[in-house]
Parts: sequence; structure tokens; C-alpha cells
Amino acid sequence: MEITIRRILLRDAAALAEISRQTFYDTFTGTCTEDDMQSFLEQYFNLAQVQTELTNPDDYYFFAEAGGRPVGYIRFMEDYNNWELVKKWKALELKRLYVIQQYHGKGIAQQLMDFFILFAQQNKYQLVWLGVWEHNVRAQKFYEKYGFADSGHRHDFPIGDTAQTDKWLWKFLE
Ligand SMILES: CC(C)(COP(=O)(O)OP(=O)(O)OC[C@H]1O[C@@H](n2cnc3c(N)ncnc32)[C@H](O)[C@@H]1OP(=O)(O)O)[C@@H](O)C(=O)NCCC(=O)NCCS
Repeated sequence: MEITIRRILLRDAAALAEISRQTFYDTFTGTCTEDDMQSFLEQYFNLAQVQTELTNPDDYYFFAEAGGRPVGYIRFMEDYNNWELVKKWKALELKRLYVIQQYHGKGIAQQLMDFFILFAQQNKYQLVWLGVWEHNVRAQKFYEKYGFADSGHRHDFPIGDTAQTDKWLWKFLE
């Protein structure tokens, strides 16, 4: 399958909001109440919020497209707000990596991850890191393949009133 990776532009805001909602819903439905889910989707993936993020040049969003349609996306940013410790290094946070369910296991996530790692290397980052839900085994296996290790840090990531915990993984670059 031919995949193109390209930066997401402001004019793509509606498409980004849609794929963000769909993939978040598919990943986490059943792990929280439906009310919590719906308010989370509305809070984080409403059009105005997505547009604000897309106007920030330091907030990197890319689509993976197949046949001109988005089938996955990645978001990364140099952001030390949540984790002071990683200020010791030049660190890049992988904020999101989501592929539409029917495209899992087809190498699209690999292409997005390779793109991210190359970006980090070319921009002289020393460390890349990410948070993953402690019960998201598939994603953890995927990150393991890329040499991400458990930093030992845990982070609350509630969906509405439903408490959830993320593991923070990191990978030091050469
Ligand atoms: C995480 C994600 C990007 C990985 O992409 P993918 O195309 O599914 O990745 P792969 O199939 O290459 O790798 C997944 C690994 O988990 C394994 N796996 C698949 N289903 C699994 C399951 N139910 N339990 C445990 N492992 C599983 C696969 O066998 C594979 O490991 P292997 O290469 O050793 O066989 C993709 O699954 C996704 O978008 N998931 C939903 C969103 C998400 O969870 N994003 C991450 C948020 S932190």
C-alpha cells in the first residue's frame, strides 16, 4: 500500500478532528463510561481546539494518507510542561500516534514512527518520550519494538470521571 506522510494544515482541521475522534473512540470505548467518552471527545477534538493546535508551528501534526485519504496521524512537540525531568535533555514528546483500526498491522504505524524518529535525529534531539495507557498492550508491544523503555514514571490520564494511568516510556537517541 502506497502511503504518503504530509504535514496537516489548518484547512484539514475538520478531517483531523474526525480521525482523532474516531481513533480515540475505537481505542478507549469500553474503558470509561459513554458520558465520559463523549465529553472527552468534545473537549479535546472540537473544531476550535484542533484549529488552535494547527496554527501553532511548534505543534507537529502529520497525516499518513492512502489514496489521498487519512488513515492515521501523528502529533509531536517539544513540550516540557508535563515532565520537568526531561528538561535535562533536548527532548521531543510523541503526543499521539493513531491508525484507523482496519489499517492496523499494515506497516502504517511503522512508517509514522520512522518519520518521527528521523525528524528527532535530524533536529538533534537526545531523547524521545511518550505516554501509553497501562493496559494498551498492543501499543506497548509496538513501542517496545522501537526500543522504548519504561522510564518508571506514571501519569494520571483520566477520561472524565474515569481514572486511568499512563506509563511514560522513553528512548535515548545516539
Ligand atoms: C498502536 C498502533 C499505532 C500500532 O500500530 P499497528 O499497525 O497496530 O502495529 P503492529 O501491528 O505493527 O504492532 C503491534 C504489535 O502488537 C501485537 N498485537 C496485536 N494485537 C495485540 C493484542 N491484542 N495484544 C497484544 N499484542 C497485540 C502485534 O502482534 C504486534 O507485535 P509483533 O510485531 O511482535 O507481532 C495501532 O495499533 C493503533 O493505532 N492503535 C490505536 C491507537 C493507539 O493505541 N495509539 C497509541 C496511543 S499511546
